[in-house]
Amino acid sequence: MPPSPDPSIGSGRLAGKVALVTGAARGMGESHARRFVAEGARVVLSDVLDDLGEAVAAQLGDAAVFVHHDVTSERSWGEVVSRAEQAFGGLDVLVNNAGILRYHAVHETPPDEFRQVLDVNLVGPFLGIHAATELLSRSGRGSVVNISSVSGIIGTPITAAYVSSKWGLTGLTRAAAIDLGSRGIRVNSVHPGGVNTPMTGEGIPDEAFEPFYRRLPISRLGTPQDVSNLVVFLASDEAAYVTGAQYVVDGGQSIGDLSLFS
Ligand SMILES: NC(=O)c1ccc[n+]([C@@H]2O[C@H](COP(=O)([O-])OP(=O)(O)OC[C@H]3O[C@@H](n4cnc5c(N)ncnc54)[C@H](O)[C@@H]3O)[C@@H](O)[C@H]2O)c1
Repeated sequence: MPPSPDPSIGSGRLAGKVALVTGAARGMGESHARRFVAEGARVVLSDVLDDLGEAVAAQLGDAAVFVHHDVTSERSWGEVVSRAEQAFGGLDVLVNNAGILRYHAVHETPPDEFRQVLDVNLVGPFLGIHAATELLSRSGRGSVVNISSVSGIIGTPITAAYVSSKWGLTGLTRAAAIDLGSRGIRVNSVHPGGVNTPMTGEGIPDEAFEPFYRRLPISRLGTPQDVSNLVVFLASDEAAYVTGAQYVVDGGQSIGDLSLFS
């Protein structure tokens, strides 16, 4: 089943907003950045992949800048947030998208790998919220969108570090939503299922995924655009009364046990 086109794309739903999207050099982050600009936002794209990130920002023109940024570094967060203020005068939206995935069962996960995954996927977003709170608060209509995963609301196999990091991010989202509501900042999490990006191509061949996706209520792999549609909504003022929420975009993967009788 092909994804249905969204007739509202490009209708200025983020006009006047400044956003920071981490991990924006490729995959879903790139899609969010492109869509945000199409909706009227100005966007700071950040990533550790400089060449790819610079190229995406160049294609987006004056509405975008790329900044080298390692989300595990507190100093790097300070620099990228300052850059948003210098380039575009403030910050309204933070999309904590950068993430890494490592395939190991819990008993086979090297402890250093477990720490590394938590550092990028959980400590990174924490540092981001920490660094951006002042500017987001000044906006008066701040929005943080944390990109978790179905692995942040259910368990998934051979991804122990990833699952732990994404459940942590689900918790961080709720805690931050409570603490920052009075500062005019909403904080929500997005939980994609399998989405076609470089991440899904790493380590496991496409054929291995196919029977799984065929069993889903919406029988296909997700696209980055499927997720961008949701991220735009949460970033926009349409979601003004939405905070601390978990939004699943997974074709039905997390509904329950899909294997029975199939
Ligand atoms: N692809 C999927 O099926 C899927 C499903 C659920 C959730 N997610 C989540 O969506 C987000 C985007 O994933 P994607 O599929 O686009 O993956 P991707 O690998 O294509 O993109 C992730 C980006 O994050 C960047 N990154 C990694 N470590 C970084 C660091 N320390 N500092 C800054 N940037 C860093 C990478 O360079 C890359 O550009 C991730 O948080 C991922 O966990 C992905």
